[in-house]
Amino acid sequence: MSSTDETLSNLSKEERRFDPPEALAAGANLKAEAYERAERDREAFWAEQAERLHWDQKWERVLDWDDPPFAKWFVGGTINAAYNCLDRHVDEGRGDRTAIHWVGEPEGDTRSVTYAELRDEVSQAANALVELGVQKGDRVAIYMPMLLETVVAMLACARIGAPHTVVFGGFSSDALATRIVDCGAKVVITSDGGYRRGNPSALKPAVDEARAKASERDGFEVEKVLVVRRTGQEVEWDDAVDVWWHDAVGGASTEHQVEFFDSEHPLYVMYTSGTTGKPKGILHTTGGYLTGAAYTHWAVFDLKPETDVYWCTADVGWVTGHSYLVYGPLANGATQVLYEGTPDSPEKGRWWKIIEEYGVTIFYTAPTAIRSFMKQGREIPDRYDMSSLRVLGSVGEPINPEAYVWYRSVIGGDRAPVVDTWWQTETGAIMISPLPGVTAGKPGSAMIPIPGVSADVVTEEGESVPNGSGGYLVLTAPWPSMLRTIWGDDERFKDTYWSKYAQQGWYFAGDGAKKDDDGDLWVLGRVDDVMNVSGHRLSTTEIESALVSHPKVAEAAVVGAKDEDTGQAVCAFVILRDEAGDGGDDIVQELRTHVRKEIGPIATPRQIMIVPELPKTRSGKIMRRLLRDVAENREVGDVTTLADSSVMNLIQDGLKGGK
Ligand code: WTA
Repeated sequence: MSSTDETLSNLSKEERRFDPPEALAAGANLKAEAYERAERDREAFWAEQAERLHWDQKWERVLDWDDPPFAKWFVGGTINAAYNCLDRHVDEGRGDRTAIHWVGEPEGDTRSVTYAELRDEVSQAANALVELGVQKGDRVAIYMPMLLETVVAMLACARIGAPHTVVFGGFSSDALATRIVDCGAKVVITSDGGYRRGNPSALKPAVDEARAKASERDGFEVEKVLVVRRTGQEVEWDDAVDVWWHDAVGGASTEHQVEFFDSEHPLYVMYTSGTTGKPKGILHTTGGYLTGAAYTHWAVFDLKPETDVYWCTADVGWVTGHSYLVYGPLANGATQVLYEGTPDSPEKGRWWKIIEEYGVTIFYTAPTAIRSFMKQGREIPDRYDMSSLRVLGSVGEPINPEAYVWYRSVIGGDRAPVVDTWWQTETGAIMISPLPGVTAGKPGSAMIPIPGVSADVVTEEGESVPNGSGGYLVLTAPWPSMLRTIWGDDERFKDTYWSKYAQQGWYFAGDGAKKDDDGDLWVLGRVDDVMNVSGHRLSTTEIESALVSHPKVAEAAVVGAKDEDTGQAVCAFVILRDEAGDGGDDIVQELRTHVRKEIGPIATPRQIMIVPELPKTRSGKIMRRLLRDVAENREVGDVTTLADSSVMNLIQDGLKGGK
């Protein structure tokens, strides 16, 4: 039995069901009737959702799908995302509401800001960016820890119509340089560092390196670097380029005249791993994206902005941080927590302590985090009063039923429903999820598309699979927050997402899924060469390229192997160059460090195996499936398509004997 078959049959045995709590169901934002209403007239339904926002000029047409797959939503409408996230709340009398409770990692280091205060800071930052020469359409890279200033920076960009590209602070200077150059960022916003696990960790040096690399490698010059002082650590300073945030922003006026942009004006580019070594710059535009983020945040978490305290633990460097920490919650006028540090600092119960202290009611996190807490045992969360929690969310990878049940019972006090939300950087917003006041939750299933979204599981040929079978997950109708293209590469956009089911005009998500006997969906994971490590997407090819760039490496193959903690872990098979001999005693460590440096700590292989050969088909394609068998300690599957079937014996003998 292959591992997928095994997973499928295990899943079908899951029979636990959790009905929505009565009170939640009675007061739910979105009721069951919405499914049918959206189905009847999808565009009218989305138009209704767009009405949650302030439009300076209303759209003339909801959807222009005349030139698929290039969509335009709310055509002719004009809108400003930052205005919707801040000014509108102030203008409508919600200015004194707390927008963000920022919690620094060092205990006691906190700051809460109201919507009015946040609007003032964003206006100052917008003025400062204009002063630095940033104009509408210019790109700005943001490489920051989880600070209030990070949110301010993003919204300031949105306010002046300068698309931001936020690069996760855990990425290396190399990865940062690639992204800066790809989108041509004129300005980089960063900080001296941030606190992680009790210590200040530096960020500015990586920006200095990235700037040098962009210049040397690609002749690209970053014009200005705006630096927030967070830790006070020493930083190198280039007077021609570097500017302190507290000087430029602190000294700027809080008055900034807002401008409304076309609904399709670019809002941001978010890079994500694809199946080749080059990351894809996913482009999101303004009106449709903000509609999707605001609607889903309201519907899926049943947000009551007057009373809820919401907390999403995602880093702002990922799409979840964009849609469910910045744009969704702020557009909805929510009060939320933003936490700088790691869950175990200064002690393991830090998250639960924050929930108790701020009375968090809605909590959104990832299965990998839940599994690590399960391991530590329930004694830790049990020390805290988390009775305020009423809705729990999960995102990033399939949540295994045991983790779901633990989450619901230990964190949610057997009361709070869990919404398992499936979506992607590309979809911009949640697509498949239970509704907390409607759906009887099944541990492990993301259930059905939310109202307004249309998905299916289909065969290679595009036939909808019957209940009880698996296939490819597709989205069968356009949606407002869909990616518009890959930055600078329309062809790759078409190829990657729209060519497999070109005839039907469906979006191919790259995930495998199954419909159970009730027709509910179970997302099984990627069907391409993309891995999912702790909910982060990593490309096998990107890591292979990093390994091959090491002088001792001749060839490398990378697979994602099942891992109890991180979902998948990076396992690399490496052939050394002849002249490198056996590579020396520290070769494995040397290569791990190399990958860390090239891409970043999240890409560090769990295992590196030095092998004499790699299994390839006759056409030269590496058979990763077989390597995965080895990495997961399984009996190796069918080898008949191998060019040389003895290769697997060679690999396994080598591994038994050696390193
Ligand atoms: C996976 C993160 C199962 C999936 C928002 C998808 C999930 C990829 C779930 C996107 C879920 C995300 N159940 N799998 N609830 N959520 N995934 O772009 O493989 O970082 O294609 O977006 O994560 O990852 P991305």
